[in-house]
Amino acid sequence: MKKLVSAGAILFTICALIAAPAMAQQNKKDALGHAWWQHAVIYEIYPRSFADSNNDGIGDLKGITSKLDYLKELGIDVIWITPCFPSPQVDFGYDVSDYEAIDPMYGTLQDFDAVVAEAKKRDIRVILDFVVNHTSDQHKWFLDSKSSKTSAHRDWYIWRDGKPDGQPPNNWLSTFGLSAWKYDPTTKQYYYHYFYPEQPDLNWRNPVVEKAMFDTTRFWYKRGVAGFRLDAVDTMYEDPNLPDNPPAPGIDKFGRPNMLEKYNKKLPEMHGALQRLRSVADEYDAVLIGETWTSDVKQLREYYGPTGNELQLPMDLMLTDMKKMEPRVLRPHIAGLDSSGGWPTYVITNHDIVRSYTRYADGLHNDDIAKMMAGFYLTLRGTPVMYYGEEIGMENNDPKRKEEVKDPVGILSWPKDKGRDGERTPMQWTGGTNAGFTSGTPWLPVPASAATHNVEAERKDPNSVFAFYKTLLHLRKNETAFREGKYVSLNENDANVLSYLRQANGETILVAINFSPTKQAPNFDLSKQGIAGAKAKAMLQNGATAADDALKTVELAPYGIYIARISE
Ligand code: NOJ
Ligand code: CA
Repeated sequence: MKKLVSAGAILFTICALIAAPAMAQQNKKDALGHAWWQHAVIYEIYPRSFADSNNDGIGDLKGITSKLDYLKELGIDVIWITPCFPSPQVDFGYDVSDYEAIDPMYGTLQDFDAVVAEAKKRDIRVILDFVVNHTSDQHKWFLDSKSSKTSAHRDWYIWRDGKPDGQPPNNWLSTFGLSAWKYDPTTKQYYYHYFYPEQPDLNWRNPVVEKAMFDTTRFWYKRGVAGFRLDAVDTMYEDPNLPDNPPAPGIDKFGRPNMLEKYNKKLPEMHGALQRLRSVADEYDAVLIGETWTSDVKQLREYYGPTGNELQLPMDLMLTDMKKMEPRVLRPHIAGLDSSGGWPTYVITNHDIVRSYTRYADGLHNDDIAKMMAGFYLTLRGTPVMYYGEEIGMENNDPKRKEEVKDPVGILSWPKDKGRDGERTPMQWTGGTNAGFTSGTPWLPVPASAATHNVEAERKDPNSVFAFYKTLLHLRKNETAFREGKYVSLNENDANVLSYLRQANGETILVAINFSPTKQAPNFDLSKQGIAGAKAKAMLQNGATAADDALKTVELAPYGIYIARISE
């Protein structure tokens, strides 16, 4: 018997050895030591809103498959699909009731396999959303957990007695309004939920929870998923002693006095969990992207891990908080991220934030500003994460009346905050009914601007936002300097024009972007960069005229952009 066991172990070891070289090959790097995700452009798809194949008004997986040719044409490399797992949809999928299945409203596991297989044929990888902090209150783990104090899953969530007077265990607040504690009469205890009460927090201090969650990632890796975007990592752990959070000045959007989330956010234990999760990802050459809200680059740096062993791509969400884009603010920001030691991950918009088109539009140069933003973050050193519709200049379409609001956050905080429906409206495919998204009733209405800002119309217009994105994305794909080159800041005293070089393998590309509403005429002396007598040849521009090829004067219209190849 003993012999048999060791024979099995030997067989296992042989299999592992055979598999090992394959894995090493998978995790391959290019000549500059870069991994596949460092060259990728990631495109976020909100599945409810992308393409509706069965005309029930809600987008679905077959819809996504039907648009893969479009995504290939656009020039992206990876799609990140926000949660498409079974869910009561209280938070539109961020309340997962089964991590290893597909919600019937989006299709089946076979439909998902088809997305992956068809995407692969087009060299597109698929990334899923991993909701780590909480499950739905309808997840079987939570249903069991709440059933009794001695249930098998009781300690999978955070249960506590109330105070002697029956009040919640402490003063922690849910970020979606009201207390973070909900009383459950069955067992006469409170459970903790940082988000909606329907999203109870998992207890990551319980190793069995960690194992179960890690196993769900394996389930998807084995189906061909190339990585995960990790939702709400900051709230994975809480101080088990539950001290009250200290007060902070001001009032939040729900009208509650602010508090410092000292004991229920960004606890150091999170980093250990991320390192262990990364080890699993490394077995599959997968990438981990983080929903990492930070107020400075120093904080962001921590998510890469002490030896680069946590998240490969913690998102820089700070740009989304900048009301005005100004070179004097952008320069130190980019420099900080560029020298952080990790690979930068730029984001300008997503499903929780007012669309960038709306944020920066001035009513006069809206499309130019959209192109300028593309020319900015898609030419920096790093991996950009786009949001569907950004490439056609989709704007926010906020609800006009409280009765129209679908996002519970918007209902609770109306009218101060209208919630997130506005940035989640259907993708605008055509200028026809419902922007060609569905022939049913779309779950959210499309804005009037869909008549002009849609894929069909913009494909035909060489000056459209779409045409600019498409050209730029393909340029980026073909230029090593864009994909991997170092970033060199130029003309640092210019208050209006942000200029920089991207350089690799002897190739140099210049980018000059006018962030102001007035004409600008920067000139460039690249002798300090060792390029004597530099000549420029435009590769892509919007609102730019270069007077001669010696870079003496580049005239930039308001929000103009000039991208040129530099030679001596
Ligand atoms: C962040 C997600 O992006 C957001 O949409 C969601 O509501 C919260 N996390 C909770 O999961
Ligand atoms: Ca938590």
